[in-house]
Amino acid sequence: MNPFYITGIIPPEHFCDREIETQWLVRTVTGEADVLLTSPRRMGKTQLIRHFYNQPEIKGHYHTFYADIYPTTSLHEFVLFLSKEIYSVLVPKGKAVLDRFLSVLHSLTGSFTYDPVSGVPSFDVKLGDIQAPELTLGEIFDYLEKADLPCIFAIDEFQQIARYPEKNVEALLRSHVQTMNNCRFIFAGSNRHILENMFHSAAKPFYNCTEQLYLDRIAREKYVAFIIAKFREAEREILSGAAQLAYNLFEGHTYYVHNLMHHVFSYVAPEKTVDENDILFVLDNLLEEKSHAFAGEMSHLNYQQKETLIAIAKAGKATGVTSVAFIKKNALKSPSSVQYAISTLLDNQILTYEQEGRTKTYSLEDRFLEMWIRRTY
Ligand SMILES: Nc1ncnc2c1ncn2[C@@H]1O[C@H](COP(=O)(O)OP(=O)(O)OP(=O)(O)O)[C@@H](O)[C@H]1O
Ligand SMILES: [Mg+2]
Repeated sequence: MNPFYITGIIPPEHFCDREIETQWLVRTVTGEADVLLTSPRRMGKTQLIRHFYNQPEIKGHYHTFYADIYPTTSLHEFVLFLSKEIYSVLVPKGKAVLDRFLSVLHSLTGSFTYDPVSGVPSFDVKLGDIQAPELTLGEIFDYLEKADLPCIFAIDEFQQIARYPEKNVEALLRSHVQTMNNCRFIFAGSNRHILENMFHSAAKPFYNCTEQLYLDRIAREKYVAFIIAKFREAEREILSGAAQLAYNLFEGHTYYVHNLMHHVFSYVAPEKTVDENDILFVLDNLLEEKSHAFAGEMSHLNYQQKETLIAIAKAGKATGVTSVAFIKKNALKSPSSVQYAISTLLDNQILTYEQEGRTKTYSLEDRFLEMWIRRTY
């Protein structure tokens, strides 16, 4: 058994730290506030929400829902994702609990059936069945308000609603959320810029209606101690310097550190004490394994996009990308070509940026790709 989980649900004993954040969530949500949770991609938002749902103060005391709305592009789909999530959480809780939901969801009655012989419920709703999304949305909120337990609904990648073609989705949701007594919301996402704009500008419906948690990297001492402890539990050894190196290579970025440690745990012989060389060796192999996929990704880019991406990968974090200095240093074509390439690379989520005042700092979304480009070009 590999204690470094890189997919699926992490059992509590293999969940690293986040003690302060978890306790903060428990206090804030049981204290009846809604939460805005942001972080860079792959820092651990989704896992933190699941871990929070598992806390003794929450589990069994609340119905806990989680919908990742990243794939949605319309209010219809939003409504579909929310209702499917509620359905799948309630099914294992038995007919009485489920019926309470079904009895409120009038607009989709036709999509529910119980198998006449086995009594097994099924919910086969298609996008086309949602004819009046606003009405169905109202019913969903109505259910959450009347449910037999208080509810917590986490909506992940919430920034997506800003892209829906329907007008006033934010205002519509806000008007529902505002009146709820029985349900608390966690709005989560990695697009800090869009989200903070949604929640922090006075002209927007969601202005000032949540407590905010920004999820940063796990502290170095905590992460290193966790790595060493996981090896010890398996009666294996790793040098502290090796664990530090794994952390430093990715500046503690959870997904990448964890991924690397997962592979180190699998590939290094159990009787060997893991040292710095083992870390670097496994990392080389990992990048080698990904090489084919990365090459494929690069082949979809045009020349300008490629040279811009390479320049940013080499810089690590790049500011002033349209400045003469940056263009010259990297032998790029012109500010406008860089600007254009960047906007496509952002749309394709190959690049990401942080904004401080008017300064934008660009970096690659995928730290493995960044390392691979640095080695390859
Ligand atoms: N507290 C933790 N303990 C152990 N592993 C963790 C922890 N947090 C995150 N991870 C690791 O990082 C990976 C990514 O975490 P998660 O999916 O929660 O990030 P995310 O911020 O939701 O990412 P995305 O932006 O892609 O939605 C997990 O699959 C796991 O391998
Ligand atoms: Mg996530």
